[in-house]
This record gives sequence, C-alpha cells and structure tokens, in this order.
Amino acid sequence: MSSAIDLLKEYAETGTLEALPFGHFIDGAFAQPSHNRTLESFDPGRSMAFARFTAGTAEDVDQAVMSSRAAFETVWRDTAPVERARILQKASALILDNLDLLAVTETLDSGKPLQEALGDVRGAARTFEYYAGACDKLQGDSFPLGPDHIGYTIHEPVGVTAHIIPWNFPISTAARGFAPALAAGCTVVAKPAEQTPFTALLLARILSDAGLPDGVCNVVTGTGRETGAPLTAHTDVDHITFTGSVQTGRTVMKTAAEEITRVVLELGGKSPVVVLADCDREQALTGVLGAIYENAGQICSAGSRLVIEKSIHEQFVGDLAARVNALTLGHGLEKPDVGPVNSAGHLAKVAGFIDRARERGANIVAGGSVTHDPATGKGWFFEPTIVDAVAADDELAQDEIFGPVLTVQVADDADHALELANDCQYGLVAGIYTSNFARAHQLARRIDAGQIYINEYFAGGVEVPFGGNKKSGFGREKGLEGLKSYCKTKSIAARIT
Ligand code: NAI
Ligand code: MG
Repeated sequence: MSSAIDLLKEYAETGTLEALPFGHFIDGAFAQPSHNRTLESFDPGRSMAFARFTAGTAEDVDQAVMSSRAAFETVWRDTAPVERARILQKASALILDNLDLLAVTETLDSGKPLQEALGDVRGAARTFEYYAGACDKLQGDSFPLGPDHIGYTIHEPVGVTAHIIPWNFPISTAARGFAPALAAGCTVVAKPAEQTPFTALLLARILSDAGLPDGVCNVVTGTGRETGAPLTAHTDVDHITFTGSVQTGRTVMKTAAEEITRVVLELGGKSPVVVLADCDREQALTGVLGAIYENAGQICSAGSRLVIEKSIHEQFVGDLAARVNALTLGHGLEKPDVGPVNSAGHLAKVAGFIDRARERGANIVAGGSVTHDPATGKGWFFEPTIVDAVAADDELAQDEIFGPVLTVQVADDADHALELANDCQYGLVAGIYTSNFARAHQLARRIDAGQIYINEYFAGGVEVPFGGNKKSGFGREKGLEGLKSYCKTKSIAARIT
C-alpha cells in the first residue's frame, strides 16, 4: 500500500496517480464500457486535468442495473444478515488500510484539504462499521390480535437502489448510502459526480475485496444527463437516493414519479447559526468559523448565515473577521485551512453572488475576491468572505452560495433570531450558541430544520439522523433512521385456530 508521502511524490513527478481506477465497476470488475468516450477530471488546486474516466451511457447503466437486479434476486437478498455484517465490517477495515490512497485521491479530485479528506475516509470506514452492527438487528414487531390469530412484521430490502452522488463529499455520501442499503439486503448502482468519480470506484473495488458478491455494488461514471438521468428513469430501479441541487432533485423526483420509484432527496441548505449574547464567545467563534469555511463552504449543511444578537454583533464580527483574515489558502495536499472550490464554473457562481452584492452596496468585512494558490498562482480559489448586516430578503440570506461566504444577520433578541432563522426556503440544519440551556432547547424545538446543533456545529457522526425540511428535501440518512429508506415493512396476519 502506497503511503501518502509516496503518493504525493508520484503526483508531483507525473501529474497523476497510477492507482486510479478506469472503467465502470460492474459485476465485480472494471468493465469495458459500451464505447471509448472519456471525460477529464480536474485537480481544482491546480486548475488542471489529472486523469480521465469513462463517459457512461444508458447502455452502461442498463448493464449495471441488470447486474444489480440479478445479484439481488439470486444472492444478496437471501444472504444471512450475519454474513452481510461480516463483509461490511471487513470493508470498514479495508477502507482504513487504503486510507492514504483514498484521501489523496479525494483531495485531488475535489480540492478539499488533505486533513479533511482523511477525516472523510475515516468517517466512511466508521459508517460501514456502524451499519455492519445493524445487519442482524433489523427486527420486526408482533401485534396482539387475540387468541385466534398471530400477527407480525418483517423488514424486507426494497431491492435495487440507485445512488446519485455529488462532488462535495464523494466518499462520505457514497458510504452513507451504500452501507445502510447493503445492510438492509439491497443492491446498489451508483453514479458519482462527473467532477469526482474516483473514490466511489475505489470503494466498489474495496467492497468486492471484502467479499461482497459480484453485482451487489456497481458504479457507472459519466455526466448527469447521459448517465444519471437514465439511472433514475430505469424501470428496474426500486429506490433513488439523491444528494445535490434543488433543481436536479426536482427533475429526479419528476422522473421517479413515472415509475412510482421511492426517493430520498438531500438537497441544499442555508443553515443559520444563532449566536446569543450569553454564549461562550470562544466556543461560538470556533464553531462559526468551522461551520462555513470547512470544505470552502461547499457543504449542504454549512452554517452559512450567522444570526447574531445585536448587543454583541460588532465585537463578534470584528473578532471573526480577524480570524478569517488569518486563514491560510493553498492546494489541498499542502493542508491549508481553506482549499479551492471544485470547478471554474462553480467559482464563477460564487463570485457572481459577491459581485452583485457589491453593486447593491453590501458591507464586505473580509475577503470578497477570486484568488489563487499563493504558492503557484494557480487553482480556483475564493477568499474566505464575510458580508455583514444583510437584510432577510437579500439573495445572500436566501440562496445557497455553496462557497466560503458567511452572511451576517443582526437580531434584536432571541425571538427575532428565531424569526430570522426560519425565514428561509431551506430547513436542513441550525446551530445555536447560548449558555441558557432551557432557551437552547426551546429554540431547538421551534427552528424548522432536520438537525440542530447546540454549542458545537457538526456535532455527532453516523449515529445522528440527517436530512432536511422544506426545500432541503425529505427522508433521513444516517443513524438507524437511515436504514428505513432501504426497507419495506411487510405485515403478516394469520388465523391459527
Ligand atoms: P447537481 O444536483 O446537478 O449534481 C449532483 C449529482 O446529480 C451529480 O452526480 C450529477 O451528475 C447528477 N445529475 C445531474 N443532472 C442529473 C439528472 N438530470 N438526472 C440524474 N442525475 C443528475 O448539482 P451541481 O450542478 O453539481 O451543483 C449545483 C449546485 O447544487 C451547487 O452550487 C450547490 O448549491 C448545490 N449542491 C448541493 C449539494 C448538497 O450536498 N446538497 C451537493 C452538490 C451541489
Ligand atoms: Mg475533479
């Protein structure tokens, strides 16, 4: 197994990595695609292509779905739960054995700082460990029907599950979909984002090495239009887990409606971090900083709106700006505080928000410009940015920017903070910083979001159910709750007299 140092050296010398997989992963092996068309994947830190991958077609998708269907019917559905558990547990260990390769690949493909990619890969291993433990605990219920009957439920796997994966957390999103689906007895066909195809392919191979039967987990690479769309429209897919934009989520839901295919949609966010005057300032500063600048703000659950009580607003934003100005920028492999954004197109989108805000006379108190890796002059970077005192109806307070841009909204008091927190089309996550625990829990109940953090942002891991309200989507992933999407409850009642 190559160490991170070897991989970094290889990349510096050759501009690519030999260990990167090529082709779709179908039926337990890297398959010949239906034709020779390829796409380039870019290293956002250098704004340069570093590898090619296969551009899939509807034909490739069809082959993958047929493979998953056959594996579901003939093997995986009836594999003993304890056997499924052992395979997932082995996969968890193999992910850690491949930690450096997976993390370096993730950094090159997505741009994220290596320390964050290492965290994501460890998190993926933990996700498989967690769901390995759940395989043989999917118990049903029994219900009292009187002396003449017995009644009980069983949780059956839903069947072939499609996973459409975004570019911001490629291995994390793949793991949080694959692991519960496999634990429940479902088979998988995944379509990673065209910006970040490699770690899903590596993960499929690792699962195969762990003993997963051929066809149980297939991965097809390509664009959303040519590969994602035929996958979500496929008549032999029973369930779709989609993570991405509201616009594409809407398309996927409409497509799914044709076949009455089940969907879980994990879409955008504009999550508030409510900071009240009685908070622990240091705790709140650290929390707010990590909530928006981790992964350069490209997180659906990023804390992108600071909702701060008026009496501490000026001092808090001043302290925050000083910390933001001290953040280091650089290529992800150099382990900076903040890496590049994922693509040239996405950089233009982030910059567009700030250009328009500047024209409206916005108060930009940190950052605000496109920039480069100071070491090389390359890469797709945007300065960590704070825009102060933004009105609730401004696009900066309503729309997902998905970049390192914090919008500040000033609240008169806790009630006003609640009003501002809820005044948004999204409802994914919210943070609350206060030393008044009763008030924290009152707010936690009244904020319309799927997940609330108190006095620490991104608290908890795979154990904590995750998903959105309003335009952030529906359905829950992670936790035991996340298993439900992959199960169909069947009730059985019988006369016994
Ligand atoms: P997107 O929603 O178009 O892409 C996400 C995934 O969907 C990719 O794998 C893509 O290939 C696939 N896809 C695209 N069109 C499809 C179709 N018609 N049928 C099936 N699959 C399809 O998002 P994109 O363009 O990458 O980013 C746009 C914005 O979406 C970002 O600026 C951000 O605001 C938001 N976003 C939110 C994410 C989240 O975690 N909730 C993740 C990525 C993006
Ligand atoms: Mg890439």
